[in-house]
Amino acid sequence: MKLFIFTLCIVAATCDLAQFVEDQTEIIRASWNQVKHNEVDILYSIFAANPDIQARFPQFAGKDLKTLKSSSSFASHAGRIVGFFSKITELNPNDSGVSAAKTLINEVAASHKGRGVSKAQFNAFRVSLTAYLADHVTWNENVAQAWEKGLDNVYLVLFSAFDGSPM
Ligand code: HEM
Repeated sequence: MKLFIFTLCIVAATCDLAQFVEDQTEIIRASWNQVKHNEVDILYSIFAANPDIQARFPQFAGKDLKTLKSSSSFASHAGRIVGFFSKITELNPNDSGVSAAKTLINEVAASHKGRGVSKAQFNAFRVSLTAYLADHVTWNENVAQAWEKGLDNVYLVLFSAFDGSPM
């Protein structure tokens, strides 16, 4: 993330890097706080838009999504999966926070590669998550850009690990 923002700052020439990173982090946190307890709703919207992702979950494959939505098993999975983004957004953008984020992301890459999840499915997951945010949080150009950059960074680490070169 720092590297990405640093590059932007060189282009902008007049950027206070630390302040810029802080601002982006705060924008992401403030918007995530508006939906972070909607785990069930978020996973539901991702499955509804991507039946092939739902089909990868042994417990949920082939089952009626509306019925699943009210089950405790669905809530428990949603808490674990959506909770990943809560853990990431709670980290500070300093060296130890970046290092902790990389560890979490590398774990997801390894466990999901083992399950045969594809990069295309990860990208589809991202599109649906962003669409959910756009519909449920205060959304404007700044918020959209902060999430795009943040998710670019997460996915850079994720796909590097996926390709066998963890960062
Ligand atoms: C950035 C996107 C994603 C994140 C952050 C994420 C996160 C997680 C986390 C934290 C878990 C629980 C811990 C673990 O078992 O590794 C999990 C489980 C799982 N994820 Fe994901 N996931 C993502 C995308 C996907 C996609 C796209 C698929 C399928 C196409 C998928 C399939 C699964 C499956 C099958 C499980 C195991 C569920 C079980 O315990 O039965 N995930 N995911």
